[in-house]
Amino acid sequence: MNNDFAYEKEVVSKKIEEVIGQEDVKKQLKSAILMRRHVIIVGPPGIGKTTLARSIARILPKRKKVNEETKEEVEKEPVFVRVQGSPDLTAEDLIGDIDPVKALKYGPLSKEAFTPGKLFKADGGILFFDEVNRCSEKLQNSLLQALEERKATIGSYDVDLDADFIFIGTMNPEEAATEPLSDVFLDRFDLIYMKPPASIDEELEIVDLKGRKLTGFPEDLLAKTIAFIRNLRSSKDLEKHPSVRASLGIYERAQSNAYLDKRKEVNVNDVQEAMVSVLSHRIRLKPSLKYLKSASEYVAEQFSEFAEDEKITKGGGP
Ligand SMILES: Nc1ncnc2c1ncn2[C@@H]1O[C@H](COP(=O)(O)OP(=O)(O)OP(=O)(O)O)[C@@H](O)[C@H]1O
Ligand SMILES: [Mg+2]
Repeated sequence: MNNDFAYEKEVVSKKIEEVIGQEDVKKQLKSAILMRRHVIIVGPPGIGKTTLARSIARILPKRKKVNEETKEEVEKEPVFVRVQGSPDLTAEDLIGDIDPVKALKYGPLSKEAFTPGKLFKADGGILFFDEVNRCSEKLQNSLLQALEERKATIGSYDVDLDADFIFIGTMNPEEAATEPLSDVFLDRFDLIYMKPPASIDEELEIVDLKGRKLTGFPEDLLAKTIAFIRNLRSSKDLEKHPSVRASLGIYERAQSNAYLDKRKEVNVNDVQEAMVSVLSHRIRLKPSLKYLKSASEYVAEQFSEFAEDEKITKGGGP
């Protein structure tokens, strides 16, 4: 690890455009990158954790390396390696494996027989590890040395290979993890907590930027629809709340409904028709309510009440 900060300073000088709002989270991520500290972005589903981590790929500078033969400085493409956390991910995927053909050719303990895994491919760049807490404890353990020493030792091999990367992970603490992250593992990270969009304006901007556009959606009706989802997000009746994906889903499906009805603009019926399909599995009622009604009934009922209160009419306006 050098101390000139050139690479890190260049990364943090760029703007993260894919993620709307979340200024504090962006600042924290940059602050960690500047010091080459490993981080895990923590938060509920669908709030842009993956989008944020992935956006770093686009702001990485090319790396300058000296070609050992010609001694000339060459520019290399930025290194950004993505690993999807899952219970099936093996230590071999991360560390590497012995190639039997090469082992026969070069000898089983030769460095040439070894096919490096993702940790070594990330050397000199970023290792983006999505949904870390879906991995087994065995896998977490296989990462420990690389995270601390920026090197990894391979089984019976007598070599340390460079695995110098900045680790950016994501995790959703509500996910029933296969194994909770161990203390030794967590001690190697800084955690960055991310929350749903702070304001309705931010959420409207996300929907406008990321959602597909097929028909018109009256501004007032859209604002009320998103407000409805945000109300559910803070509702005490629920133990699982709808994410930004739900807002995007309603935005898109309401337009489809208008189109299928041969209209150029969304009306309140289009929104209502999309509600059950988009929302009911994305929420979970608290046990006290679960036995009284289903999630679909709850969504339909809440939306009717909301539409009534807000005096949403067919045209979309009050
Ligand atoms: N602040 C935001 N800026 C831009 N897009 C956002 C934002 N929040 C959510 N989104 C959009 O919401 C969708 C879900 O985002 P993403 O996949 O990054 O969420 P996540 O937090 O990784 O969710 P999960 O925990 O379920 O993996 C994407 O389409 C993303 O573009
Ligand atoms: Mg994600």
